Amino acid sequence: MRLSLRDRYIRAMRVSLFKTTAGMCRIDAVAAISRKLLPLHCRKSMQIILCDNYDEISACAANIVKATVKAKPNAILGLATGSTPEGMYRCLIQDYENGDLDFSAVETFNLDEYYPLSAENEQSYHYYMNEKLFRYINVPADKIHILNGEASDPDAECKAYGDAISAAGGIDLQILGIGENGHIGFNEPDEYLRADVHKTGLTESTVNANARFFATRDEVPRYALTVGIGDILRAKKILLLASGEKKAAAVRALLDDHITTQNPASLLKVHSDVLLICDRAAYGE
Ligand code: GLP
Repeated sequence: MRLSLRDRYIRAMRVSLFKTTAGMCRIDAVAAISRKLLPLHCRKSMQIILCDNYDEISACAANIVKATVKAKPNAILGLATGSTPEGMYRCLIQDYENGDLDFSAVETFNLDEYYPLSAENEQSYHYYMNEKLFRYINVPADKIHILNGEASDPDAECKAYGDAISAAGGIDLQILGIGENGHIGFNEPDEYLRADVHKTGLTESTVNANARFFATRDEVPRYALTVGIGDILRAKKILLLASGEKKAAAVRALLDDHITTQNPASLLKVHSDVLLICDRAAYGE
């Protein structure tokens, strides 16, 4: 039987999938995973850890963040919002409270922020990050960077944010969720994508998906400030998290060899160190 390139790729992915079992996602297990998947990595393919459930995704992702910070205490972390990384943040808070993790030298850059929206608004990503992570751990306040959703000059805000990422030395580990339409950060499907930090409009799909966080759909801002695809691809390592069947179509598009601006996450295929951690539902099983 002659297999298409896509089928061969998916088959290669399947035989190399790492099946997690409860409790296996400790740092040493993650190191073992990396070794096991090294041949795939060398072929510049995305590595995948297939988890049984959301808690496994969260523990596994947190352990990779933890390993990164332990190896480099002044690591530059790119952080994401949305429901998906919440469990990972809970695990990191636990590690910090257990005295297992110290963020005192860490610097963080968030992916995006709605525009216009005040940092005090409960739906802002400023508010989210403070409530879900920062108020519980010890990242110094002046090392936390989130785009200002109230900037009077959004272009100047975006330029300064990109410059600050470069001045810090670039992102060591970028955490990403994925939109149902394949967006990463707020880089929405389009004919053209922007490489650097910019102001963008939100698609109807994203407004609908994110309306669940707001009292009414009309309250969802129609714009956002976001790091660009170039900023994301310059990160040294990328951790992409996906959970639930609503993400299955976007994840499926990561498993073939096509790259399209209509699925921004597909551009991650050109990066040599991307790890996708997902559950069976997001993987389409
Ligand atoms: C928002 C964020 C993205 C995030 C996406 C998915 O649109 N801008 O960074 O990845 O939502 O969110 P969730 O994890 O809630 O599905």
